[in-house]
Amino acid sequence: MGIEIDTELGSFARKNHLHGLTAPSLKAIFEGHSGYSVDKAKRFLRFQKRIDEKLLKHRIITGNRYTAWFQRGQQGREQIRAFIVQFSVFSNQFLVAQLQKMINADSLEGMRASKEILANEIGVVFKSGRKQGGSAADPDKEGDPELVSTEGTVDGGIFLFRAAHFEWLMRIAAKVGLRFEDVGRRTHGSKATLFFCDELIRLYGSDDYMVSQAASYAVENWAAAGFWDQLIDGFTTYNRRTGAKLPLAFFTWHSKLEGQHAQHTQEELEELYFSRDMDEDTFIANGNAMLDGVAAFWDGLEEQRTRLAAA
Ligand SMILES: [Fe+2]
Repeated sequence: MGIEIDTELGSFARKNHLHGLTAPSLKAIFEGHSGYSVDKAKRFLRFQKRIDEKLLKHRIITGNRYTAWFQRGQQGREQIRAFIVQFSVFSNQFLVAQLQKMINADSLEGMRASKEILANEIGVVFKSGRKQGGSAADPDKEGDPELVSTEGTVDGGIFLFRAAHFEWLMRIAAKVGLRFEDVGRRTHGSKATLFFCDELIRLYGSDDYMVSQAASYAVENWAAAGFWDQLIDGFTTYNRRTGAKLPLAFFTWHSKLEGQHAQHTQEELEELYFSRDMDEDTFIANGNAMLDGVAAFWDGLEEQRTRLAAA
């Protein structure tokens, strides 16, 4: 049955020159859902081309100087420490942005989607239907990012202090001699890091739904562009080179999660386009503003690591 529909949808797409549209949108047009039409789909595909050109080629997506340097694994301990501190500030301020996004949701479904991310961040383990990461045989391993699922839902999942992403980051921090009081709070953030965090709160957490959606699309595309893997490569080489044994599960867990998001992000954009009246220029402008914020964060780290190397 599924294959039959796919073939039918495929020829429908070819006949109407709708190549590039995701399956859920094609299906909705085919079935005549309200808001969905071949004309609107063609407008969307033209819009997607503009997004590809004017948003997704942002320099922080196509070439991030800091993560390219980090990936080589030649950093010193001070540079690792400085990175962890700034990342921990971002990690905490992201909770504020995510909470704003949740509060400002314009539907129950949207509120739940945002709440899911927030709850998982602070320690509710995804319930995947398979093994539950919280119930490891070794109690020291409870909530360990090496064990907890990247799939499923927080609905019915269990809360573990130790499953909070911030606590995962704390484990690496401890290995490089950073104490709880050395990380996480705004006072530890550089000007660049705080600018990024405030832009996240302003745009990603905006009470204007279209602004938050544009920022969200931009952030998801940045996150899917490979920076997690560059960080993992760098840490792996650093560990090998220095024998440091920094635990990397915070990063590998997020990389795995991100890998599952990419397709979703595209489907969400199409759903938004077909269900709303979208101002295309404003969407692209807001997305770029968000990516400028992201770029400020990495530029700040780049400036800092250069300064530390010189010291
Ligand atoms: Fe996280």
